[in-house]
Amino acid sequence: MNVLLTGANGFVGSHILDRLLLAGMTPRLLLRRTSDTSLIDHLLPQVEVHYGSLERPDSLRVPVRGADCIIHCAGKTKSTHTQELLRANQQGTMHLVEAGNEEAARLQHFIHISSLSVSGPGTVDQPVSEDSPPNPLSRYGKSKMLAESEVIKRCRTNWTILRPGPVYGPGDKDMYMTFKPLKRGFLPLLGGGRMRIALVYAPDVADAVMACLGRAEVFKKIYHVAAPEPVETGQLLRLAARLLEVQPREVKIPTAALYPVCLFLEAIARLTGRQLALNLDKLRELRAPGWVCATSKLARDIGFEADTPLERGLAETFEWYHRKEWL
Ligand SMILES: NC(=O)c1ccc[n+]([C@@H]2O[C@H](COP(=O)([O-])OP(=O)(O)OC[C@H]3O[C@@H](n4cnc5c(N)ncnc54)[C@H](OP(=O)(O)O)[C@@H]3O)[C@@H](O)[C@H]2O)c1
Repeated sequence: MNVLLTGANGFVGSHILDRLLLAGMTPRLLLRRTSDTSLIDHLLPQVEVHYGSLERPDSLRVPVRGADCIIHCAGKTKSTHTQELLRANQQGTMHLVEAGNEEAARLQHFIHISSLSVSGPGTVDQPVSEDSPPNPLSRYGKSKMLAESEVIKRCRTNWTILRPGPVYGPGDKDMYMTFKPLKRGFLPLLGGGRMRIALVYAPDVADAVMACLGRAEVFKKIYHVAAPEPVETGQLLRLAARLLEVQPREVKIPTAALYPVCLFLEAIARLTGRQLALNLDKLRELRAPGWVCATSKLARDIGFEADTPLERGLAETFEWYHRKEWL
């Protein structure tokens, strides 16, 4: 099977690439000339690289030609500019879908990596379902919702939309920022640390993609991909501290106190053009009552569960951070 993978040099995409290679495939990648390939440099000799951008439709024709399946993982996850999010996520997806439509005679499956931020928040009592109307809180979530609409509206081949919850694992830089303070001796409990989130380990997302590849049961459907047991943020950080063998001081941070911090970071990002893990858009998501979602649909349709235990996933993640001397 010829697979085109976008976003392969990014955090989630690098795990999907790992799995494709493990399955004995020779995927082709869409990279940009400017892409940082440090996560996948060791794998590049085993793949076919095409340079292009989702924002340049003409650069997508060659990589798409001859593909049986497209796994679309590229996306902009943070920006202080709405237009930038829309250009990469909505318009970029539209361009890729249109390029795929030109090859519809051969293309069998278009797998789109979306996000739980499209479904919106949920709680233990009321987990959000992938079949409820989308309820994104952030500009990022809205841009991913519009990207999904492009797939649903335009894609002439069979498609599947996967909405992972917040992803952690080797290679991740965003959640790393919440683990880093533990090493500095404090454990930040945002909003008391009671928010529950449906995390997912990056290799589980990659396994979900592999499980869906070419399966008729998942055609034209939307699925959450997250661990069935949501975790409280405080619980997560306490477990992380135990694994890191540190005893940090717990510091309660009211969510309201984050506003000036995010405002400041947003200004820095606008001035420098460097996008940071926290900004006013991310704050909209941090203020939600929880990010708990239903996860049984994928299990029901193809028997897949994102079942890596949190403790094991975190231990593997920290081992990677240590190896890279990040922690
Ligand atoms: N991380 C999470 O917690 C999470 C949760 C749910 C869903 N997701 C989704 O998973 C996907 C990957 O996220 P990630 O966390 O791996 O982010 P990431 O590390 O920032 O990777 C993003 C990837 O998208 C590529 N990309 C962005 N704009 C592009 C464009 N215009 N043309 C071509 N490639 C472009 C980037 O390439 P460059 O290196 O060239 O910029 C990079 O390969 C995204 O679609 C995101 O919405 C992530």
